[in-house]
Amino acid sequence: MKTLHLDLGERSYPIHIGSQLLTRAELYQPHLKGRMSAIVTNETVAPLYAKQVKETLESLGQKVCVIVLPDGEVYKTWETLQKIFDGLLRETADRKTTLIALGGGVIGDMTGFAAASYMRGVPFIQVPTTLLSQVDSSVGGKTGINHPLGKNMIGAFYQPAAVLADLDTLKTLSPKELAAGLAEVVKHGAIADVKFLDWIEAHTAELNRCDAAAMEFAVLRSCEIKSDVVAKDEREGGLRAILNFGHTFGHAIEAGMGYGEWLHGEAVGCGMVMAADLSTRLGGITDADAQRLKNIIAALHLPTVPPSFGVERYLELMSVDKKAEGGEVKYIVLQPMGQAKITKVPESTVIETLKATRAA
Ligand code: NAD
Ligand code: GLY
Repeated sequence: MKTLHLDLGERSYPIHIGSQLLTRAELYQPHLKGRMSAIVTNETVAPLYAKQVKETLESLGQKVCVIVLPDGEVYKTWETLQKIFDGLLRETADRKTTLIALGGGVIGDMTGFAAASYMRGVPFIQVPTTLLSQVDSSVGGKTGINHPLGKNMIGAFYQPAAVLADLDTLKTLSPKELAAGLAEVVKHGAIADVKFLDWIEAHTAELNRCDAAAMEFAVLRSCEIKSDVVAKDEREGGLRAILNFGHTFGHAIEAGMGYGEWLHGEAVGCGMVMAADLSTRLGGITDADAQRLKNIIAALHLPTVPPSFGVERYLELMSVDKKAEGGEVKYIVLQPMGQAKITKVPESTVIETLKATRAA
């Protein structure tokens, strides 16, 4: 097992990465403040992993309840959040009850938000079981739910007490979900570490077949990169936005197709191809760099050609980010490969990218 520390003063926490962590009682123990724990999970993950986690917590003398939610991004809603509170109140969970988020990013984001607000804040532990959640969403404390008018629009920054990324859980993921997580791995290389990108390029076959050693390095290096960024800018005053590389275009694809048609990671993969094209137009990277990134994304079985909604529809969809950012769409571009910057871009240049990438 490898352990990283996300340094956030009194909100610092360990990120444990390795095999067979779900049943390591000593990893949970320091973070259990009371006598009760509530595992929040979903219908898919519960039959796979809830028993192991429950028994491990019980071995520490915990009273454990399991709250099983429906599975899917469409359930990342206020109504489902209410089910978590219903379960906690029914079980008379108190201020010292620890929530355990056992699942992918949907479960992690919702459980974190429930922990932030139940009795004005209870501790929670992230136990991410998808690659996407291990390399990205479980780290950094962004929690929340979707609103019919926008994704992740209701939420809170609320850091977990610990992250336990058990690499064995990745073995039950579908190839499509694995690829979606790999998109965020590529993102970390592209924005922060060109040597990591070289490594990804050289190991696409191992990553595609979920090779244990390759997964360990991919998760570890991704968590290091994300932790460094979050430690410098926890609440996204500026720098943290680089973690959204590919997301402005990606969110437009997700929303335009209807949530659930493209996985978040698939949309981010294709969004990075578009953001790389934009970067070439601003002189940040060469055409060869952009083509290379596209080849890596394709080699990881991610889509590289966006749906063609046309210019007007893309600009409209991307303006949701504009509302969230106080009136202007900000783009994350590469300059050079392995580094990212946040910038405004003339609309005419964005349109060139939409046309060149066949989005319009
Ligand atoms: P997800 O949580 O929907 O999980 C994907 C699917 O895999 C689900 O059907 C789930 O039940 C299933 N699953 C989970 N673990 C499994 C396992 N070990 N074996 C088999 N199936 C398993 O999706 P995701 O990609 O993990 O996360 C996407 C969510 O994360 C989005 O809501 C996105 O907004 C959010 N996100 C948040 C952050 C953040 O910083 N908080 C960052 C990136 C993404
Ligand atoms: N996934 C973007 C962030 O955590 O800031």
